[in-house]
Amino acid sequence: MYKIIEKKELNQEVTEIIVESPLIASKAKAGQFVVSILDDTGERIPLTLADWDRDLGRITLILQKVGFTTKRLAALKAGDDIEHILGPLGHPTEIENLGEVYCVGGGVGIAEVYPVSRAFKDAGNRVVGIIGARSKDLLILEKKMKDVCDELLITTDDGSYGHKGFVTDVLKDFLEVIEKSTQTKYPALVYAIGPVVMMQAVSELTKVYGVKTIVSLNPVMVDATGMCGSCRCTVDGKTVFGCVDGPDFDGHKVDFKELEKRLKLFVTQERKVK
Ligand code: NAD
Ligand code: FES
Repeated sequence: MYKIIEKKELNQEVTEIIVESPLIASKAKAGQFVVSILDDTGERIPLTLADWDRDLGRITLILQKVGFTTKRLAALKAGDDIEHILGPLGHPTEIENLGEVYCVGGGVGIAEVYPVSRAFKDAGNRVVGIIGARSKDLLILEKKMKDVCDELLITTDDGSYGHKGFVTDVLKDFLEVIEKSTQTKYPALVYAIGPVVMMQAVSELTKVYGVKTIVSLNPVMVDATGMCGSCRCTVDGKTVFGCVDGPDFDGHKVDFKELEKRLKLFVTQERKVK
């Protein structure tokens, strides 16, 4: 049993829960995730490790209330228990001192870009954060991102806060300025996480400028241990499993079309669950 210590509604769609889990907190690294099972009849859902406190033995999970189980999870209160949490899972993000790294987060993907940005900053990089949401009220973790980024740019689709437009618009502006300049260099790496369409757009853009890009994929997962094959993706023409080979992959080599298609595999079944 894993006790919920704190619960906070970050906005109308996204809930943050802090859960007691000393073992996972002691091992967690940026880029990893957990699988939670609410109770004996519950489905397994992967959730990003958004933060952890090794001293207090707590992990922070951030979830978007999109389906039956995420809504049930978000309805729990402080003091309630989650039956099982498995993790940390997946390979941690490869963190090294590269010089300058751009960390791009879209919507609820900011929950994962935060620990990755912090890890790159701790490794000595200059970190430029670009985070975006559909509107100001849906933007999460602005303060936490400010604390770990040397420079933070914010976008909203509707222009209610920061730059009006997508995160890719700001990224494109940066890359175009660098292209024309003799003083500045392209970043050593762009790390992007968010909706598939956003990760694809970031990867297509950075490919033009030859900037290495890592994306964190979110295929449908069932066992999350490499056994079931449900998280199958194609990267560089080869089949990989998001759960055990990822979740980070070279964005220039991901078959995003296939990923988008496979994410819709269980839409009919999901609609039947009340
Ligand atoms: P959203 O649709 O609100 O988009 C968030 C931001 O992404 C936008 O504000 C914009 O800046 C950018 N974006 C969206 N579409 C774009 C496009 N066509 N081109 C360029 N940029 C674009 O995101 P949301 O509602 O928070 O998340 C939606 C989806 O993201 C969910 O389906 C969820 O499963 C997925 N997700 C993926 C991961 C992951 O592991 N990759 C993590 C969290 C969420
Ligand atoms: Fe089953 Fe990855 S979720 S193999």
